Amino acid sequence: MLTRRAFIGSLASTGTAAVAWLRDDAIERVQAAERSAESQSPRDLAVDEDFWFQIQQASTLDRTHINLNNGGVCPSPRVVQDALRRYLEFSNQAPVHNMWRILEPEIEAVRTRLAASFGCNPEELAITRNASEALEICQLGLDLKPGDEVLTTNQDYPRMLTTWRQREKRDGIVLKLVSFPVPLKDPNELVRRFENALTPKTKVILVCHITNLTGQIFPVRRICQMGRQRGIEVIVDGAHAFAHFPFKHADLDCDYYGTSLHKWLLAPVGTGFL
Ligand SMILES: Cc1ncc(COP(=O)(O)O)c(C=O)c1O
Repeated sequence: MLTRRAFIGSLASTGTAAVAWLRDDAIERVQAAERSAESQSPRDLAVDEDFWFQIQQASTLDRTHINLNNGGVCPSPRVVQDALRRYLEFSNQAPVHNMWRILEPEIEAVRTRLAASFGCNPEELAITRNASEALEICQLGLDLKPGDEVLTTNQDYPRMLTTWRQREKRDGIVLKLVSFPVPLKDPNELVRRFENALTPKTKVILVCHITNLTGQIFPVRRICQMGRQRGIEVIVDGAHAFAHFPFKHADLDCDYYGTSLHKWLLAPVGTGFL
């Protein structure tokens, strides 16, 4: 007679869909699928159902929808959601012990590893709930006086623009917006447009590392250096950049950087850093 153990073993050895949910090696399976993809042409890979099965199983997407927006918040992979549920349950088993004594000190390990991947000192990095919080800490925290000017573009994120508008009303600062052509032929044009809009009253520049509207990547380092030469602080909106393409803080040389972790890093919803 077929035992339960033999039945499950036979399923596992076939690598079929039936046992995907029984295993907790989701990341390893996606990595293995990725490795197997490297040797295939795009055309072959497009019809490789074994490959796409592993990718599909790694998430919990509602299959009655086609999700094209991973930029607002990206759906977390199954393994991330499982960890969140596990830690929530563990916390509630004995909050004072499990949450305060065991889990909370581990936040420091996350901060250290995030700082290493961004290339900064952990003491320079704060974990926030999203990019908006990280950027607003800078926008609302900088010491600005009536008449001080803030420079950004008319394609920056609406929430960041309304935050400056709030400071216009509260503190009398002046928000100046530069426009730029889309598509852009020459990235130098972006530096030139910022430079031409500077006045002796400019105190802050807010610049996207990559815009959400068109995916335009800005020459952030050059804009930061231009600001530093004139004593202007530069805040970089990196909501879409971190873990989207490779770079380190040293490549930007910026004063402030705010990003999301729940977009391209696929971290839990409600995470970011400053
Ligand atoms: C350019 C840009 N900045 C900031 C944000 C805010 O990001 P978060 O949702 O992490 O607050 C977004 C969100 O999509 C964005 O596209």
